[in-house]
Formats: sequence, structure tokens, C-alpha cells
Amino acid sequence: MASSTATLEKIVALCKRRGFIFQSAEIYGGINGVYDAGPMGTLMKENIKTAWKQSLLSQLDKDIVFLDGAQLGTEAMWKASGHLENFHDPLVECKACNARFRADDIDLNGNCSRCGKKNWTEVREFNLMFKTQLGASVEQSSSAYLRPETAQSIFVNFKNVLTSSRVKIPFGIAQIGKAFRNEVTPKQFIFRMREFEQMEMEWFCSAASALDFYAFWREERRKFYSAIGIAPEHIHMRDHDKDELSHYSSGTADVEYDFPFGRKELEGIAYRGNYDLTQHSAHSGKDLAVFDDAAGASFVPHVVECSVGVDRLFLTLLLEAYAEEETEGGPRTVLRLHPSIAPIKAAFCPLVDKLSEPFEKVYRRFRACGHSVQFDSSGSIGKRYRRQDEIGTPYCFTYDFDSEKDGKVTIRYRDDMRQERIDISAIDAFVNVKGPFIAPNC
Ligand code: GAP
Repeated sequence: MASSTATLEKIVALCKRRGFIFQSAEIYGGINGVYDAGPMGTLMKENIKTAWKQSLLSQLDKDIVFLDGAQLGTEAMWKASGHLENFHDPLVECKACNARFRADDIDLNGNCSRCGKKNWTEVREFNLMFKTQLGASVEQSSSAYLRPETAQSIFVNFKNVLTSSRVKIPFGIAQIGKAFRNEVTPKQFIFRMREFEQMEMEWFCSAASALDFYAFWREERRKFYSAIGIAPEHIHMRDHDKDELSHYSSGTADVEYDFPFGRKELEGIAYRGNYDLTQHSAHSGKDLAVFDDAAGASFVPHVVECSVGVDRLFLTLLLEAYAEEETEGGPRTVLRLHPSIAPIKAAFCPLVDKLSEPFEKVYRRFRACGHSVQFDSSGSIGKRYRRQDEIGTPYCFTYDFDSEKDGKVTIRYRDDMRQERIDISAIDAFVNVKGPFIAPNC
């Protein structure tokens, strides 16, 4: 079977054609760097988030609790975190056509890619946070910012979580939520967006254990990607050089993936020291230290952070799963998504319309139990298989004229297109998809 791999253009087209991702407000011309998830995309994003949560919960000897923080944060909070001062990109403008670029994205000795002239402004720092005003007042104290990372909601709630939950150092607080960055040049589809979702886990521990946990979480995150279907050879761990480190980090590794536009960051794993809690303690006047019974002294916990964008992982999984193949029945596009990530777990296909009624009863039984399944009765059976291949449905069940007599259906496997007959009662085992982090006996 000849096959060819994904390009960004092919993924963008598939996403629109099959309802994964749409340009936001497209009928009004769209917003640069802002996207909406369609019906398939919504299901797949939920599956990604579930897999991430389960990967943390399945760490049986690690206490990890969850938080859902607000997206608006006060000016004081972002001052303390260092984002007001440090969270910027170098911006340069073409004086001839007013086009704006990230200075580190272009060659300033060359000409403007938009108008062809060479007339650059000085490079200036551009803060990436979206600022807004709370209420009708325009005083400084009513300024607020949309969070550029979810992590700070975790740090400012550290004491609340510690005193309200039965957790002790070391433990983790995890969060999935929206983040907003006014990127100078959003690009590569959903790789660099202005509104996106992050999945972040902050692991609080002693200074003495932090480097061991940093090594531990690096390894766990590698395992995570392999478990959800990314080939280990496509994942690379790259340590940041000293001059690349963020303002808060004493050590960071990027988990990188081979995107069609180059090897780029998928996730950041950072040893943040105790920078964040120390800053929030100093700026808020609240003591964020914990008491160490063994040492008989207080200390400010250190933090190891794992942070990945839902949307960036979504793009990665589509690229990884996408293939175009020549088959005996003609060309096909297939998404070989891990079954737990696939938006639709199975399609129920009556061979012809008049067989719909008995098979729809079987299908409805699965829908009633909340399974993500589709009833697909329109078009030739070959066309229906192709349609399901394109959205990554792992199994199609076909009900034919013999089914009523022998109580069997044909199962058609997405990955190798193999077909075999199985009892209708055996469908359960295929539809009941378990994530890679759920023990087989659950
Ligand atoms: N709290 C640490 C932090 O936010 P980051 O490296 O700036 O670190 C973490 O972001 C992850 O969030 C990235 O590895 C990426 O997956 C995702 N991410 C960051 N900026 C993004 C953007 N503009 N669009 C989509 N995803 C983004």
C-alpha cells in the first residue's frame, strides 16, 4: 500500500471538510489566530483532555488535584508573576507598508516580505497580554488581563488548595483552561494562536527533591505521548540553553515534535525554582511557605511544571495520524488516531436502506449509554467507509441480509481495512473504548 504523509495544507483542508476546526467568525472574514472547534474537533479535544487527566490520575503514588481558575487576573497578580515586565516579543514594523513582524522571525538585513521594501523601525518589546478594564471605572486599579498561562491561577490558589484538600508536599495541582496571547504573528494554523487552551500541572516539592522530580516528569511526559499514539522517534527532548530560559526558570526542556514546518516545541517542562510562590508572597503580603515537620522549619516549595497546549497537541495528533493511501478500491485518506482519541468510536452501517430499522435499534442502545457512535446509512458502503476513515473511526459495523438470520455483522477495521464477521453481541467490546491509562480490569 503506497502512502504519503501530511502537509499543513492537507490538515487544514481536512479539518474544514470534516468539521474538526473552523476559522472563527469566518463569515465575517475570520480573526487571525482564533479558531473554533467543529463537531468532530470538540469531541477530539475532550478526548485529549480526558487522556491527559487520566495520565495524571493513574499516577497512584502521586497526589494530584485539579483546579479551574478564572481567566481574568488583576494587574497586581501579573506584576508579581513578572508577566507585565517580561512577557513580550521583539516587534518590528515596516515603515513602508506598516506590516508587523516578530523581529526574531525575519532577517532584518533583508526586505519586507509584504511590500519588498527595506525600511524597518527600531525593534521594540511588545507585551503579549490582552488588557481590559473591569466595570465602568478607568482607574489603574480596575485594569485586568486575560491570563497568558493557566499556571498563575494555580500559584495564587496554592494556599487555598493546601488548606482545603488533604494534600501534603510533594503534590501536584493540575488545570486545563484557556490562555490568551496577543501573538505578533499567529501562524501555522493552530500551532500558534491568540486564544488557546493549556493543560498544565505544577508539582510542588522540596528544593532537595526538585531535580529528581524534574527528571521523573520528563520521562512520564515522554511515556504519555507514546501511549496516545505518537511514535517515540517523532518526539525529542531538548534542554534550553541558559540564554533561552524564561524569566522564572532555572531549567527547561522542550518536548519537540517533527512538524511539517520543522522541529518545534510541543510541551515545555520547567523547573521554576520557588520563583512564583516567592513573588506572590512578597507582592500580596501573604505567607505562602509550608511547615516541614521533619526539619522544624518553614520553606517555600519549589515547582516542576509540565505545560502543553491542547490545540498544539491536537494538531500533532492529526499530523501523526494522517495518511493518504492507494488501495485496491482507490485512494483513501485515513486518520489512524488512537481509539481513545478518535471522535467517533464506531459507525453502524446497514448495507442497504431497508435494513436500517433493525440495526438502528442496536445503534440506539449504544447511544443511550452515552457512547460516541454514528449511524451511517447514506451512500455506497465503500463511500461510507472512506468517510469514516477520514474522521478516524476505528471500526465500522455492517448489517447485511444474513445478519437477521445469523445474528452477525461485518466488522471493518480502519487501519488495515480487514473485514470479518462477528456476533452482534461482540460489538460492545469494540465500542467500550478504554484510554491507555485505564487498567484493563476497570
Ligand atoms: N506556564 C508555562 C508556559 O505557558 P509556554 O512554553 O509559553 O509555557 C506552554 O507554553 C505550552 O502552551 C507550549 O508548549 C504550547 O504547547 C502551548 N502554547 C504556548 N503558546 C501557544 C500559542 N500561542 N498557541 C497555541 N499553543 C501555545
